[in-house]
Amino acid sequence: MLSHIIDVLADPIDGTPLVGAEDFSRLVSESGHSYDVARQGYVTLAGGAGLRYSGDDAQMIADRETFLSGGHFAPFVEAVTEHVQDVVDQAGLSDDAQPVVCEIGAGTGYYLSHTLDSVAGSRGIGIDVSVHAAKRLAKCHPRVGAVIADAWARLPIADNSVDAITVIFAPRNAAEFARILKPKGQVIVLTADTGHLAELREPLGIIDVEAGKVDRMIEQAAGHLKPVGERDLVEFEMLLDQKSIASQIGMSPSARHIKPEALAERIAALPEQMKVTARAKITRLERI
Ligand SMILES: C[S@@+](CC[C@H](N)C(=O)[O-])C[C@H]1O[C@@H](n2cnc3c(N)ncnc32)[C@H](O)[C@@H]1O
Repeated sequence: MLSHIIDVLADPIDGTPLVGAEDFSRLVSESGHSYDVARQGYVTLAGGAGLRYSGDDAQMIADRETFLSGGHFAPFVEAVTEHVQDVVDQAGLSDDAQPVVCEIGAGTGYYLSHTLDSVAGSRGIGIDVSVHAAKRLAKCHPRVGAVIADAWARLPIADNSVDAITVIFAPRNAAEFARILKPKGQVIVLTADTGHLAELREPLGIIDVEAGKVDRMIEQAAGHLKPVGERDLVEFEMLLDQKSIASQIGMSPSARHIKPEALAERIAALPEQMKVTARAKITRLERI
């Protein structure tokens, strides 16, 4: 619910604080800008130019929900949550603190809701530019506020207000992350690594993750954020049937390069069940 995180939200136009008006049917900023809360519970916080992207479409979000609900990525969600817990523990917050976890490109809220269940007293902001994602985010956990916003624009979040930012296969805006993080806050990024879904690449004609992706991400963040500690490799094997493979491909950008009929034919030619590698790295970054 937006009321849980209203103290952390800010006007996307000028950064002034927001308050709930008329029983949280609108958010109104100190400078007088008003943002309607959708009846599904999310709010769009975009500056004057509006949103430049629409993000994942309805089918991609539905495929993401189908795939994640199978529990195939459970080791990823466990690992992300452990890192958030570690960041919060290291910050030495008081017992009654309500740490703020903000997920950028939060999709269906699968990761964020798990983290909020595990980190005592925490509350979450799920940011995504997709309206289909926002509808699910608004329902994913009682302590999540769902916000439609563009990760590449000024984030509708106050300076120095977030304890942990999580980014799972989603866009990163280092300058904005540095602005909204508390001094002891950290960004936790999960990035697919070379070899992720390796067994599916050739039969389905999808490209591999390019080498050096994490290094480039760190270079791009220079001036705003610096890495903390070692990268954590999370690698495991999944046993996927054809339906799960179809939803995995459908939720990823690979789906956009292949005609649906061709993809369906290639998936039908796969074994009924197959072992597929999941491989990603977690990188932690802090303010400079
Ligand atoms: C690959 S999905 C990952 C979703 C989620 N983190 C997960 O792993 O289940 C990327 C998400 O980022 C969102 N996204 C893409 N561009 C964005 C932008 N500029 N600002 C905010 N969200 C964006 C998409 O709509 C999508 O939900």
